[in-house]
Amino acid sequence: MTSPSFAPRVFSGIKPSGGLTLGNYLGAIKRWVGMQGPDFETIYCVVDLHAITVWQDPAELAAATREVAAGMLASGIDPEHSILFNQAAVPEHVQLGWIFNCVARVGWMNRMTQFKDKAGDNAEAVSLGLYAYPALMAADILLYHATHVPVGEDQKQHVELTRDIAQKFNHDFGREFFPLTEPVTEGPGMRIMNLRDGTKKMSKSGESDMERINMLDDADTIAKKFKKAKTDPEGLPEDVAGLKARPEAKNLVDIYAALSDQSAEAVLAEFGGAGWGRFKPALADLAVDKLAPISSEMRRLMADPAEIDRLLARGAERARGIAAPILKETYEIVGLVS
Ligand code: TRP
Repeated sequence: MTSPSFAPRVFSGIKPSGGLTLGNYLGAIKRWVGMQGPDFETIYCVVDLHAITVWQDPAELAAATREVAAGMLASGIDPEHSILFNQAAVPEHVQLGWIFNCVARVGWMNRMTQFKDKAGDNAEAVSLGLYAYPALMAADILLYHATHVPVGEDQKQHVELTRDIAQKFNHDFGREFFPLTEPVTEGPGMRIMNLRDGTKKMSKSGESDMERINMLDDADTIAKKFKKAKTDPEGLPEDVAGLKARPEAKNLVDIYAALSDQSAEAVLAEFGGAGWGRFKPALADLAVDKLAPISSEMRRLMADPAEIDRLLARGAERARGIAAPILKETYEIVGLVS
């Protein structure tokens, strides 16, 4: 239960480990835009310190940080209303992250399925940062006493770990200092899958560019990628039950539904029985229609990186206004003289 003394505050983040994809937009940013309003204070972060848990080319990292920020702005994150910044500009994240490294137990980290998936058979050779990543994510969230974190299903376990860390800290030091943050996984945000393999998430760092739609792809590229997207020999079913065990078909219907703000049922009411030869061009047209205004605004913003940096710096200053007193109190609770 979240203690009622914590004001409703949303925190979420995207890693700049490559350009922005349709998966980031439909799976995260669109929902973040919708959470702006009177119900929550909203804090959105480009989590560059998380990106470097695996190797990032320095010039590409800086470019991706600005591209992700531009994508958020172009999609409707309002930098006047929300706090938008990059993680590295607020050093308190790392400071609280260290304290949480000392709260979290090795046994807890060993249960993190994302680490196991990412490290695979190579667990001895991955960075220590990749292993500690969830404790830094807990610091991102708890540094703001955030009560709600919109995330995809794949991040739910990390938010549960955040609650475990908060609970252990509160218990060990005998203070109800950190809230027990709720993951927000329902709502319009959805998991967009890889166009070549519907069982994998659409990722910005996967090998082939054909497996994802980038927010900056032009109309021809978008049409080509949907045309070549993997499907099965059957056409579109009459109802959602017919999408069962057909991950690629389900993904394309889900993308259409998310882009047009309809349910998958409504999409199938229109396209049920159609072949892919009819559906894919309609999907490409819809995607181009919806993405063109965002990508052109992104291009406009990215033409002036100094302006993006200025907006991020202002966001970081506002973020520190919240974070610094919470970190200071944390140090006092722990007994760190500063
Ligand atoms: N781990 C998240 C991801 O890979 C990104 C992230 C970092 C995040 N810190 C966060 C998400 C804090 C929500 C809240 O998608």
